[in-house]
Amino acid sequence: MSEVKTYPVSTNASQRAWIDESKYFEMYEKSIKNPDAFWGEQGKQLDWIKPYTKVKNASFEPDNVSIKWFEDGTLNASYNCLDRHLAERGDQTAIIWEGDDPGEDKKITYRELHEMVCRLAGGLKSLGAKKGDRITIYMPMIPEAAAAMLACARIGAIHSVVFGGFSPDSLANRIQDCDSNILITADEGLRGGRKVPLKKNADAAMANCPSIKHCVVVKRTGGDIGWQSGRDVWHHELCAQASPDTPAAEMSAEDPLFILYTSGSTGKPKGVLHTTGGYLLFSAMTHKYVFDYHDGDIYWCTADVGWVTGHSYIVYGPLANGAVTLMFEGVPNYPDASRFWQVCDKHKVNIFYTAPTAIRALMREGEEPVKSTDRSSLRLLGSVGEPINPEAWKWYHEVVGDERCPIVDTWWQTETGGILITPLPGATPLKPGSATRPFFGVQPQIVDADGKPLEGACEGNLCMTTSWPGQMRTVFGDHERFVQTYFSTYPGRYFTGDGCRRDEDGYYWITGRVDDVINVSGHRMGTAEVESSLVAHPKVSEAAVVGYPHDIKGQGIYAYVTLLVGEEPTEELRKELVQWVRKDIGPIASPDLIQWAPGLPKTRSGKIMRRILRKIAENDASNLGDTSTLADPSVVADLVENRMNQG
Ligand code: WTA
Repeated sequence: MSEVKTYPVSTNASQRAWIDESKYFEMYEKSIKNPDAFWGEQGKQLDWIKPYTKVKNASFEPDNVSIKWFEDGTLNASYNCLDRHLAERGDQTAIIWEGDDPGEDKKITYRELHEMVCRLAGGLKSLGAKKGDRITIYMPMIPEAAAAMLACARIGAIHSVVFGGFSPDSLANRIQDCDSNILITADEGLRGGRKVPLKKNADAAMANCPSIKHCVVVKRTGGDIGWQSGRDVWHHELCAQASPDTPAAEMSAEDPLFILYTSGSTGKPKGVLHTTGGYLLFSAMTHKYVFDYHDGDIYWCTADVGWVTGHSYIVYGPLANGAVTLMFEGVPNYPDASRFWQVCDKHKVNIFYTAPTAIRALMREGEEPVKSTDRSSLRLLGSVGEPINPEAWKWYHEVVGDERCPIVDTWWQTETGGILITPLPGATPLKPGSATRPFFGVQPQIVDADGKPLEGACEGNLCMTTSWPGQMRTVFGDHERFVQTYFSTYPGRYFTGDGCRRDEDGYYWITGRVDDVINVSGHRMGTAEVESSLVAHPKVSEAAVVGYPHDIKGQGIYAYVTLLVGEEPTEELRKELVQWVRKDIGPIASPDLIQWAPGLPKTRSGKIMRRILRKIAENDASNLGDTSTLADPSVVADLVENRMNQG
């Protein structure tokens, strides 16, 4: 391994920081030795209606997986994100919204956001919504999306945000899985100058979702849309009639706050369930310390609210902290490749948090689009969603941050609710490509294939030995699947699905997924989902999907497809299959490469040997390992010979 450069903590960063290096070690030790005392104290950052007397109550034992934090306390998440700030910062900006069109932006104060949320909460109640109902949100990146989440939280309804890039079928599956009765959407979204037909997609989904009684529609573009009277209601009309002061419901700390669907190695996406108290505390606290957020800072996370990063680090964490959070409707390269940095200059952004895939895409455009902007407001940069390769890290540091801004490479998952492994800007010397050290209360363990814990410098599979407050509590409606997926591989521990290396300084280096999940442009995709979409095509007999290294996306989607006997493998059919998956799941699932496979490598018991398919896709065919157990070893030679050129 080549020499790794370490970047010491800058004096600027440590002087202003909440936490310096010695404080990190002191707090970390306390968090591990006495979690009840540590979290009991930290929990006071939130406003409780009834204070908790119990703190941690968690078991990872497979026959009794149960996770509870602050279980006898009561609170309301929307109250914590809004009402409690009104006296001191009612007129401070809560959300800076930057439209897709650079000419469009607005600022919303805490008082205004509070009113927006109260009105929608009241409106939802008037439609019959009540505590525990599931409300699906399918929206563009507009402030109404954040307000919709908080309005659900206010009345104790459980929101399920579905990314606006998902297809009608994907939306329908998610609505059906949690049996939602209300859908909140917009007429159309706007991204990169193009319209996204959200209501049209929603209509197609609702045709198969009898559970939906009402659809609340935000007017974003004013485009023509279908309308079903009795079911559909305009957001602005609903809110106009509702009270500007709908009270926040008293919720137990362990009452569900939201469901968020995420892909796994098998089956359909699962509904990750997060609850109120622990999640809110963990997102707020990580936001404060990891981004070293202080009053007056302008903070921008470029994620979409359809993903967990948007939940924790656009909405809940920042708003619980009374921060200024920027919400961007558009894309990094529209109208041109300077857009991110123009927005930073326009709104004087201090803290900027994005994904490696965006950095790599912008890197390809060269330095000019960055250097033509000022960026002197930037103080801290963040990265999330996939491993950041050291070249991209260095470009981010040198070109974007002018070597002035520390980079926090934050490792976490939908399941973890918030950041688990990360530098703290005032406390952690950085190594490009390493997520560095565990956050407070987080106890990583690296294990070998048999689950034996490895010590010191090592490489293996990443587990957590103990619970943290932001941890998911269950899979909605399927606790057994929760136990099976996360606690059965290595009993007594939470298994992340990621591979990881620990170096001699105790730094963690995430190496990527070790299961059948791939990470495409920072988006999680189950290979099984893409496969089942492909085999649903009338000309396809079988399909196997794996990831392969992709310069911009991190991983691309490589599909091996076997056609039904008599079907011609044409270029046209290849395109048709790409479109098929795109339409079925959404653009993020489109295969990058499709290879026609006369046969797939299978064991004699019929199991597809993905290891071999991965090696071929990675262009590492000299390293196929043992193929003697294959039912028909000759299929491998054909696949190697006809491997798709990745250009
Ligand atoms: C990957 C996104 C390396 C990892 C918050 C994880 C990362 C999956 C990093 C979760 C990082 C996320 N370095 N890998 N800093 N952050 N990952 O659920 O494989 O969309 O398991 O949550 O992304 O993706 P998810």
